[in-house]
Amino acid sequence: MNILVTGGAGFIGTNFVKYMLSHHDYKIVNLDALTYAGNINNLKDIENHTNYHFIKGDICDRDLINDIFKKYKIDTVINFAAESHVDRSIEEPEVFLKSNILGTEVLLDTAVNYWKLDPNDKYSRDFKEDVKFIQVSTDEVYGELGKEGLFTEQTPLAPNSPYSASKASGDLIVRAYHETYGLPVNITRCSNNYGPYQFPEKLIPLMINNALKGEDLPIYGDGKQVRDWLHVDDHCEAIDTVLHKGKVGEVYNIGGNNEKENIEIVKLILTKLEKSEELIKHVTDRLGHDRRYAIDNTKITTELGWEPKYTFEQGIEVTIKWYLENTDWMESIVTGDYLTYYDQMYGKR
Ligand code: NAD
Ligand code: DAU
Repeated sequence: MNILVTGGAGFIGTNFVKYMLSHHDYKIVNLDALTYAGNINNLKDIENHTNYHFIKGDICDRDLINDIFKKYKIDTVINFAAESHVDRSIEEPEVFLKSNILGTEVLLDTAVNYWKLDPNDKYSRDFKEDVKFIQVSTDEVYGELGKEGLFTEQTPLAPNSPYSASKASGDLIVRAYHETYGLPVNITRCSNNYGPYQFPEKLIPLMINNALKGEDLPIYGDGKQVRDWLHVDDHCEAIDTVLHKGKVGEVYNIGGNNEKENIEIVKLILTKLEKSEELIKHVTDRLGHDRRYAIDNTKITTELGWEPKYTFEQGIEVTIKWYLENTDWMESIVTGDYLTYYDQMYGKR
């Protein structure tokens, strides 16, 4: 396979590129705009791998995407590239719409042009064999749950934040390219990931970093919001499974049956790091904060045979260990722009 991975210098993309290079003999082209969330240093250890090539660029750049498809004979796209942080989408929605919707459309359009058996026949829906477009989406497109129930693939889309609305729009345009042109696609919708290389604007690395420095741990509202946590390696394996076994046109939910309240997670991190709960500080809640997410993973487990390998207890243990052993990585991020962002979000420390 010649796989175009977009957003491969971000958190999940980094883990995915490394996962794929160590599990398969496929060519990987990693296209990433290196926004604040992209970090080329994450990929230092594989930069000279014979099956790997990095390109700095934007998924909205039609000419560049065309050139990449042509030059690298791309037959598979796995689209991770996105603005991914809910809080930032509340402050500045526009870039979310550009990257998450328009960027997705550029990739889809290019895939149709290159993968159609006869690009000159506008009514043909025949595509080359073994081509696939995977859209990496999120459980947030389903909106929020009450105390009971789980998101299934049939749950209506009801996104609540500019971020989740942009991801839902991306999903709909992917669906439309399948229904209209016959493009072979899958959409995956995963719950909250955690693990190595996660940017410290997200709950778990932010809390680990602050706890290690003895700074306040900002909990939004009462901290009883529930997320369904999955170790990033399990997410990578699930995408690999969908790539090889996913039925064309289908959506697959991905989750690990690990529902936790935010406050539980933060207290667990403090216990593991032997820090005081006095560091916890309840702050003003996120606007439109979704109360609970939880995934029903029956479809992917029964139809494709994927199962998560980590329990939350094992996953959080190895994750904390990774951050403790990679303080240089964290220190290289929590400078300059990050500190400005942090002060704007949480007030001056
Ligand atoms: P991230 O913010 O860590 O990484 C995103 C990457 O995309 C960065 O490297 C960034 O430079 C790149 N990027 C952004 N806009 C781009 C553009 N226009 N062109 C090219 N590159 C661009 O995000 P993440 O947490 O790794 O999430 C990756 C994907 O997985 C996203 O699509 C997200 O919606 C989805 N997702 C994330 C989670 C999670 O818990 N983190 C869960 C489910 C789904
Ligand atoms: O559900 C999948 C989604 O998970 C992905 O699509 C998103 O890209 C990813 O960012 C994540 O979204 P969340 O908003 O759930 O993740 P975040 O880490 O920002 O927040 C997790 C929970 O913790 C949420 O209820 C908000 C809360 N929180 C977060 C931060 C950063 C706090 O209480 N304090 C904080 O400082």
